[in-house]
Formats: sequence, structure tokens, C-alpha cells
Amino acid sequence: MLSLIEKIIVLGGKGGVGKSSISAATAVLLSDLLPDKKILLISFDMAHNLSDLLSKDIGNTITSITSNLWAIEPDANEYAEIYTKDLIYKMKTLTKQMPLVGRIPQIEEFIDTSFTSDSIPLALKNAMFFQKILDAEDKDSKEIQFDIIVADFPPTANMITLFEIPEDQVKVVLKYSLNFYNSIKSAMRNFSKMFKQIFNPFDGEYEKRKELGNEIFNMIVDLEKRGERITDLIHSVGSLRLVSIAEKPSFEEVKRARDLTNKYINLDAVHINMIIPKKHAKKCDFCSQISSIQQRYLLEIKNEFKNTKIWESNRLKEEPIGLNGLRTLANEIYGVNIYPVDILNPKI
Ligand SMILES: Nc1ncnc2c1ncn2[C@@H]1O[C@H](COP(=O)(O)OP(=O)(O)OP(=O)(O)O)[C@@H](O)[C@H]1O
Ligand SMILES: [Mg+2]
Repeated sequence: MLSLIEKIIVLGGKGGVGKSSISAATAVLLSDLLPDKKILLISFDMAHNLSDLLSKDIGNTITSITSNLWAIEPDANEYAEIYTKDLIYKMKTLTKQMPLVGRIPQIEEFIDTSFTSDSIPLALKNAMFFQKILDAEDKDSKEIQFDIIVADFPPTANMITLFEIPEDQVKVVLKYSLNFYNSIKSAMRNFSKMFKQIFNPFDGEYEKRKELGNEIFNMIVDLEKRGERITDLIHSVGSLRLVSIAEKPSFEEVKRARDLTNKYINLDAVHINMIIPKKHAKKCDFCSQISSIQQRYLLEIKNEFKNTKIWESNRLKEEPIGLNGLRTLANEIYGVNIYPVDILNPKI
């Protein structure tokens, strides 16, 4: 089945520049403008704050925000637990059907202690969850099919892990499997004579084991295929928007983020956030000095990204919180007469 997701908007950038606020504002505005589309706002920041921004408890379940907008702050640990449990189950089934290995008393304990989700890095756990959300083939019919996903990504280093999903996840499963086989091998040294028998190709058990070995192999192949599907999906409908403020560190960060992500996802726009409005800048020396620094970086950022859509947004008087606060921020970013297509497919 082909995925029906039309757009995956990914917001990235340095800490504190407004990624979460702009993600939420964008999702709210799109849901207002496109009442027939189902939109999911998802946070991949370890320190989730969508609940604060939307003034609603969200957490680890897909939570309804408006009639066509949902949000989730996934608990990646929980999903990784489910995933490793499935792996454990498959491995135990495999060993039980192996004539000798199945008899090694410590084998179940070994599987329980070596296949733990604790050994998976958090960023990879997030990536696994991201895959689950994106991969239509993974969804049962009870789940909502989203048309548009807006993803609030963590700062750059962790963001890359979210894209390097396929290889990393395969590596983890491979590592598990190799540890597993190696431990079996050493346990089997004591049974070397019988061991030979196991590999007797005329033994019916051998076929059974081969089948189960294939199952693990297929798990890895499935993961790889899934990774490929997601890579293709992100290439075709992914749209990265990097957020910066008009200051050096965050400008440097977006340049780095652009270079590090360009093989995974298309950079469609740059947000320059929290600009001091010019009319206020004149009102005090302090403001005017900060503003002139900002204006300098504004020019530099525009120059660096001259082939990319730039959205400028002023610093608001009030924190953009709650649906209406976020709508105010969205108006500040996109203007009041924006068409949804111009948000989904930004043109210069
Ligand atoms: N244009 C704006 N005007 C005024 N306040 C803003 C604006 N954009 C964001 N904020 C405020 O700035 C703070 C940081 O924003 P936000 O949490 O969205 O940044 P972030 O990049 O997601 O941060 P983190 O890296 O910590 O997740 C928040 O208090 C938010 O309400
Ligand atoms: Mg954030």
C-alpha cells in the first residue's frame, strides 16, 4: 500500500529559536485553512513542550486538538520496549525449536538480558517511532491516516539520527543477532560432537532451523525495506524548514544543518524569528543597538539562503501560547492572506 501522506514538514534549528512554537503555529494554521485534511503535530524533542504550547495535556497518545488536528509527544522508550519484546518473542521461538540450543538452560535468560531496549540510544528510539508514524504499511485500519505531518525536531545532531533511521536500526538488530549467535556458538563448543549432527543437512530439524534463521533474516530485510520506503517518502514529500534568530550562533547552526541534512530532505524554507520590530527599535538606545545587530544578520542569512524561501517573524509582545496565541504567531509568520499551498510548497 502506498502512503497517503501528502507532506511531512520538519522544523529544525538551534535550541530556543522557536522551532516548537513555529511547528505548532504552522499546524494550527494549516488545520484552519484545510478543514478536510487530517494533520498531526509531533514532537521529537526529548523535553516535549507541545502540551505547554497548546495548553492541553498531550503525552504519548494521539490527542485531538481541533476537529482535524492531532498532536503527540511520543514516548519513544515505550515503543522501543514493544519492538524489543517482539524481537525477544521471535528469538525465543527460534531457540525452542532448535534441538540443542533449546535445551541450554540459560538461553532464555540470555535473550531477556541481552535484548533490552535500554541498549538502544534514545535518538534511535525516536527514529523508530518516527518510522512507525510514517510507515503506512505499519498502520492498522483503526489508526488515523494523516494527510500532513508537522514534526518538531530536536537540534541538529539528534535530527540527523532521525533521518539515519534505516542503517542504524538494522545495525542494532544485527548486533543483537550476532551477540545471540556468538553466545550460542560458545555454549555449543561443549557439545561439539552433537553439534556436527545439527548441521547434518539430512536431519529434518535442520530445515526447521533454517526456516527460523530465515525469519530473523527477513526481519532485517523488512527493516531495510521499511527504511527504504521511508527514505523515499521523505525525499518525495519531506520539507525541511530551518529556524534561526538573527544572531551568529543560530545562523551558523542553520548552515551546518543545511549541509548535514541535504542528502535526506529538501530544504524548502528558512524562518528568521524573534526580530525586533523596526518601529520599536528606534525607541531606546539598547533596542536600537540590538536591532542593528539583528538587521546585519538578517541580511547575511538572506544572502546565504537567497535561493530559499525566507519567512521573517517579529518578536511578539506576548508569548504565543494556546490556539489563539499560535494563530497570532502564524499570522505574524505567514501574513493574513496566505494560501495553504504557499505554506505546503513554499516558492521564493
Ligand atoms: N515570535 C515570537 N515572539 C515571542 N515569543 C516567541 C516567538 N517565538 C517563540 N517565542 C517564545 O520563545 C520561547 C522559545 O520558543 P520554542 O520553545 O518554540 O523554541 P524551541 O526552538 O522549540 O526551543 P527548544 O530548542 O528548547 O525546544 C518560548 O517561550 C516561545 O513562547
Ligand atoms: Mg522545542
